[in-house]
Amino acid sequence: MKILSVVSEVFPLIKTGGLADVAGALPKALGAQGIEVVTLVPGYPQVLKRLQGRTEVGTLPDLLGHEARVSRASLNGLNLLILEIPELFERSGGPYICPDGRDHPDNWLRFAVLSLAGACIALGHLPPESADIVHAHDWQTALTPVYLRYRFRSSLPVMFTIHNLAFQGQFSPEIGDRLGLPASAFGIDCLEYYGGIGYLKGGLVTSDVVTTVSPTYAREILAADLGMGLDGVLQARRTVLYGIVNGIDTDIWNPASDPLIPRQYDVRSLSRRHANRAAVLAHVGLPDKGGPVFAALTRLTWQKGADMFAEAAEEIVAHGGQLVVCGQGDPDIEAELRSCAARFPEHVGVHVGYTEHLAHLIVSGCDVLVQPSRFEPCGLTQLYGMRYGAVPLVGRTGGLSETIIDANDAAMARAVATGFQFHPIDAFGLREAIRRACDAYQDRESWINLQRQAMKTDFSWERSAAQYAQLFEAMQAAWATIE
Ligand code: ADP
Ligand code: GLC
Repeated sequence: MKILSVVSEVFPLIKTGGLADVAGALPKALGAQGIEVVTLVPGYPQVLKRLQGRTEVGTLPDLLGHEARVSRASLNGLNLLILEIPELFERSGGPYICPDGRDHPDNWLRFAVLSLAGACIALGHLPPESADIVHAHDWQTALTPVYLRYRFRSSLPVMFTIHNLAFQGQFSPEIGDRLGLPASAFGIDCLEYYGGIGYLKGGLVTSDVVTTVSPTYAREILAADLGMGLDGVLQARRTVLYGIVNGIDTDIWNPASDPLIPRQYDVRSLSRRHANRAAVLAHVGLPDKGGPVFAALTRLTWQKGADMFAEAAEEIVAHGGQLVVCGQGDPDIEAELRSCAARFPEHVGVHVGYTEHLAHLIVSGCDVLVQPSRFEPCGLTQLYGMRYGAVPLVGRTGGLSETIIDANDAAMARAVATGFQFHPIDAFGLREAIRRACDAYQDRESWINLQRQAMKTDFSWERSAAQYAQLFEAMQAAWATIE
């Protein structure tokens, strides 16, 4: 079975968040289940620079008026197809935003073109490439099944995965006549969304199977609270909606062999983490005060609860702890954190920005990883934290609620706890959880047990990949009966 994964970012080529990590790791895990995956990504400058030795597959001459060269490359076990359209993808800034932080104004076109290319390649327009099943991810590639169904009248099976319902690709109805789709595609049963055009909505209603990245989030998005306006649409698709929790790439995230951290360690040599803790504090210019080092490693957004970090810092400092924040995002939150660091110069350190190197260093050296997300489809950072013995402290929502066992008395007594959860997810709940973590940190022996439990949890992709494989097999079987 051959899957074409159509995606707007993939680690290690280009990454703005967990989507890239998943797109980079799942194909390898599926490969181990005997499923071949080819991944189609845009030729952003970062991608082209890294893949100098690529070979040309052919040309797609007219993707909404743009000519694409498609090339092939492989990297770290990934089989890649690169969609090269210089005027759309070779730009400065990120994959979605300009250097000034605003969205690229033609994102509607760039990702419609990516989706259309996915449909064409899956259907065999560029032999020998073709696919038995298409796997599309998030709004950026949600038009792939829409093109298959409405432009090509094809029922080729499509799985659509929601990584985050908050980003929906909503555009004005004026772009409609430039998308290369018949008028029927713009009706209420496809792209029409509150008077505009909704890419994500179109993907949800035209795919055969819809998945999201944890069973809890799959339930949460069926209700108005976290359904983000699409709960009705999702309700209608609930018989084909599945939640499969993400795994992590345990080769890349392995404290025993990680080349990006000063000192490697495992569950039996936790004291070696001390050197890493020193490096984390030094990186943000803090002295070691001897208490728990809390860290936040995240996009600085409302989703992630980053607006609560400054208040969290007060509670942490009051208990003799320190806080290190690494991330970037909302300029107001960045400014608030800078002034928080100025107020507590020996206790709070902020690094605005993100590098993989620093991410690895932080999880290898901090004691507690704070993640007060207001909603979290799955969350990977807490999984990386656990694997590195950085105890997660999280809001009880989405994937956070099912990947962590709260350190309540019963769980501690049975030695199964792996972190701290709190609810309701607000500054009060967060402060309370910080107090619990600071208390627990005082008992060194039980703290080390907590770290060990977290480190021993299995978050490899194997189990989840088997669940994806089962769905793909069922899709293929259903397809065979209608063909
Ligand atoms: P999300 O995708 O919603 O940001 P996840 O927890 O699934 O959340 O994935 C986050 C991934 O992005 C992790 O690999 C993490 O190391 C990385 N990351 C963390 N902070 C940032 C940041 N500020 N910018 C970019 N990537 C980040
Ligand atoms: C999204 C979600 C995050 C998830 C990631 C990968 O960015 O916000 O929770 O882990 O996608 O699926």
